[in-house]
Amino acid sequence: MYNLLKGKKGLIFGALNDRSIAWRAALRAHEEGADLVLSNTALSFRMGQINQLADICSAKVIAADATNMDELNALVDQTLEHFGGKIDFVLHSIGMSPNVRKNVPYEDINYAFMQKTIDISALSFHKIMNALYNKDAMADGGSIVALTYIAGERAFPGYSDMADAKAMLESIARSFGLKYGKKCGVRVNTVSQSPTLTTAGEGIAGMNAMYKYAQRISPLGNASADDLADYLVTLFSDLTRKVTMQNLYHDGGYSATGLTEEVLEAFTRGLE
Ligand SMILES: NC(=O)c1ccc[n+]([C@@H]2O[C@H](COP(=O)([O-])OP(=O)(O)OC[C@H]3O[C@@H](n4cnc5c(N)ncnc54)[C@H](O)[C@@H]3O)[C@@H](O)[C@H]2O)c1
Repeated sequence: MYNLLKGKKGLIFGALNDRSIAWRAALRAHEEGADLVLSNTALSFRMGQINQLADICSAKVIAADATNMDELNALVDQTLEHFGGKIDFVLHSIGMSPNVRKNVPYEDINYAFMQKTIDISALSFHKIMNALYNKDAMADGGSIVALTYIAGERAFPGYSDMADAKAMLESIARSFGLKYGKKCGVRVNTVSQSPTLTTAGEGIAGMNAMYKYAQRISPLGNASADDLADYLVTLFSDLTRKVTMQNLYHDGGYSATGLTEEVLEAFTRGLE
């Protein structure tokens, strides 16, 4: 513990169960001294265990569907009231694709589902920032982070319309980051994380093989949810106040590696 978030107030979206990245991030932020509000959909409260997390972190839990502006506006009002002041950091850890869930092939996608994917996984980031911005809810120099995957930049089989949503999410971070930085020095970044075995992660077709492949390609190995929680603490802290509008890789070196001897040997053995 470094007390990096002592006195800071954070709003964390997306903790469903103890494997969720948001769950691990909330635990670490709490250890570093932050006061927290946790949010997720009302449905997820019934399916998941967010109240357990709230007990551990002494956090307040407020339900909101991140696609619904009225619910987001109410959430921001209640969060400001609970903290008795502005918010220092926000984590968007939200993603869902009905096409992925129902195994609809990308080349013959269901467009109504695709609009849902984009609304939940990308537009929700804009909507959250819209509610925060219009209510002047962020403290000067605060930090807003969303989580992404490299399929937003390069084609991967199985990631389907989540790839399109991630590309949009990363673009929203840049576009809103420009406005928010000028307004009050608020940083907006995305973090591109290794494959991680969570509820959302395991919904991706071929996830186990992708996980093992990434493990062998990354010189440092895959980054876990707990590794990411450590990194997020630095992004929420005052130590990264000039980092904004970036897509930051947290992937053990995966994104910068072409090939490793381990993968080449395995491939050669497979060919033989
Ligand atoms: N698991 C991975 O391999 C991986 C890799 C890179 C990035 N990510 C990203 O990390 C983020 C968190 O995912 P996770 O892996 O922890 O899985 P998770 O399933 O634990 O979390 C996804 C969360 O999104 C929430 N959500 C869905 N619809 C919502 C809505 N309408 N409003 C509010 N919340 C909603 C769910 O309730 C859930 O808590 C996602 O953006 C995901 O794409 C995951």
